[in-house]
Amino acid sequence: MTKKLLELDGIHTYYGEAHVLQGVSITVGEGEVVTLIGRNGAGKTTTLRSIMGIPRPRRGRVLLRGADLTALPTHEIARRGVAWVPEERRILPNLTVRENLRLGRLGTRDNGTHEIDEALGLFPRLRERIEHLGRHLSGGEQQMLAIARALVASPSVMLVDEPTEGLAPLLVQSLTQILAAINRRGTTILLVEQTLEVALALSHRLYVMDQGRIQFEGTPEDVRHAPSVQQRFLGV
Ligand SMILES: Nc1ncnc2c1ncn2[C@@H]1O[C@H](COP(=O)(O)OP(=O)(O)OP(=O)(O)O)[C@@H](O)[C@H]1O
Ligand SMILES: [Mg+2]
Repeated sequence: MTKKLLELDGIHTYYGEAHVLQGVSITVGEGEVVTLIGRNGAGKTTTLRSIMGIPRPRRGRVLLRGADLTALPTHEIARRGVAWVPEERRILPNLTVRENLRLGRLGTRDNGTHEIDEALGLFPRLRERIEHLGRHLSGGEQQMLAIARALVASPSVMLVDEPTEGLAPLLVQSLTQILAAINRRGTTILLVEQTLEVALALSHRLYVMDQGRIQFEGTPEDVRHAPSVQQRFLGV
């Protein structure tokens, strides 16, 4: 692995009394795509949420380039370069594509004309629809907008939760290629992805989660050659 960028060190996260994450440790190296896979309810989304501090882990630490993020407010975690693309996308329906992208630059010094133009280079479909309202976009276009909006903040690491969920196969393929291109251009990605083939194609390394714990860690090759892991934790 290259230099450590993001590190989760034994985090425990609760929803009320429910002890959901039970000592999760994950490392993401500079420039990597690392993917969390695992069944529904395994704790994948909660892991991404814990990095953003909603909810904050009760034990353990989250480090970005060695700096402790665990006690920081969510907006400060974002300001330090962690961009979160949640499962439910959360684009603003009554703003245009361009306005949604500008929101990705909130809290930065300029309006990000250059960054927005670069992001649109990856998403030609969004460029075509730049003056359309969020609510007039298809599900796939909304997902692209959510990713593009995270990208315009020039994050150190993007946390992307199930980007291909509910998309038609052709769109899944094109989104996979776009995520690979984003990574090649230098953005580190921590991904949650249910489609095993997509996860294997994109990742440098993967972590398999179950019941709030990491059960297996390895390269795509390792996962391919571990049918027992696939059967036990992925239901493949
Ligand atoms: N807001 C919440 N309040 C209470 N419990 C929650 C909450 N969100 C998730 N949980 C519980 O925490 C556990 C982990 O959920 P999480 O959403 O992290 O799983 P996941 O791996 O992302 O699943 P999926 O593949 O369905 O998205 C589950 O048992 C879930 O029911
Ligand atoms: Mg989830």
